[in-house]
Amino acid sequence: MTGILDGKVALVTGGGNGIGREAALAFAREGARVAVADYEVESARQTVALINAGGGQAISLSGDVTVAAQVQTMMDGVMAAYGRLDCAFNNAGIAPHQVDSAGQLTHEWSESSFDRMIEVNLKSVWLCMKHEIPLLLASGGGSIVNTASVAGLIGLRTATGYVAAKHAVIGLTKSAALEYAEQGIRVNAVCPGYIVTRMTERTRETRSEAILARTPMRRFGEPREIAEMVVWLSSDRASYVTGAAYEVDGGMTAS
Ligand SMILES: NC(=O)c1ccc[n+]([C@@H]2O[C@H](COP(=O)([O-])OP(=O)(O)OC[C@H]3O[C@@H](n4cnc5c(N)ncnc54)[C@H](O)[C@@H]3O)[C@@H](O)[C@H]2O)c1
Repeated sequence: MTGILDGKVALVTGGGNGIGREAALAFAREGARVAVADYEVESARQTVALINAGGGQAISLSGDVTVAAQVQTMMDGVMAAYGRLDCAFNNAGIAPHQVDSAGQLTHEWSESSFDRMIEVNLKSVWLCMKHEIPLLLASGGGSIVNTASVAGLIGLRTATGYVAAKHAVIGLTKSAALEYAEQGIRVNAVCPGYIVTRMTERTRETRSEAILARTPMRRFGEPREIAEMVVWLSSDRASYVTGAAYEVDGGMTAS
């Protein structure tokens, strides 16, 4: 059977869990050889085991995407294993509760929480692109997909650091898209609504009703529904798509 990513090499950051894991599995199903990167090494290995069990080809890479030397080592790992890179999915990220800012208003966020949020959810995306782009240029072009969020398009209460980082991810995406369009690198963002992953576990327990009330489809999204968009954006089927930010949110931002 042929896949839409046959012959491609794909890197997924945050591939150990949630959206990243489903995307890694989807990349492999569509024929890509996959590098699954995460600082939770055991989780990345589990994703690789799932891919291998399904007959795909994958390697795990460990590293913190906020540390330049570790991002470089990740890229070295991709090149050592596969010798090229075609598709990068920059997806690793954290929620406000992971920087102890759950439920906090703008003036209540601590400086260290804000800094860490920007470092993980924004700077890492730039850092990964910085190291991926030379490899994509060497491959003669390719695709980058960055995980933004509906929080990259609208404001949300008690999430200002997260919202600021995700808006900026869309800015990075658009600017890079302009810079490399003529060299065959497409750069896009995906904007998930509320998706069933561990990141939203607490939110789904405490604010489910309010969230579903503003989601026209009246349900949370599944990680595989984001993965489908990521795979399509990464494939040649999206050959005229660059600089775009695609909502996959059950209609939330349309309402
Ligand atoms: N779940 C949602 O509703 C939702 C909605 C919009 C956007 N997002 C975004 O989707 C992405 C994935 O989130 P998820 O819901 O799958 O969460 P998740 O917690 O299930 O997965 C995130 C993964 O990123 C990894 N990670 C975090 N920081 C890292 C770092 N510094 N270095 C390396 N790996 C790191 C984690 O170990 C984890 O495996 C994030 O960028 C998140 O902001 C999620």
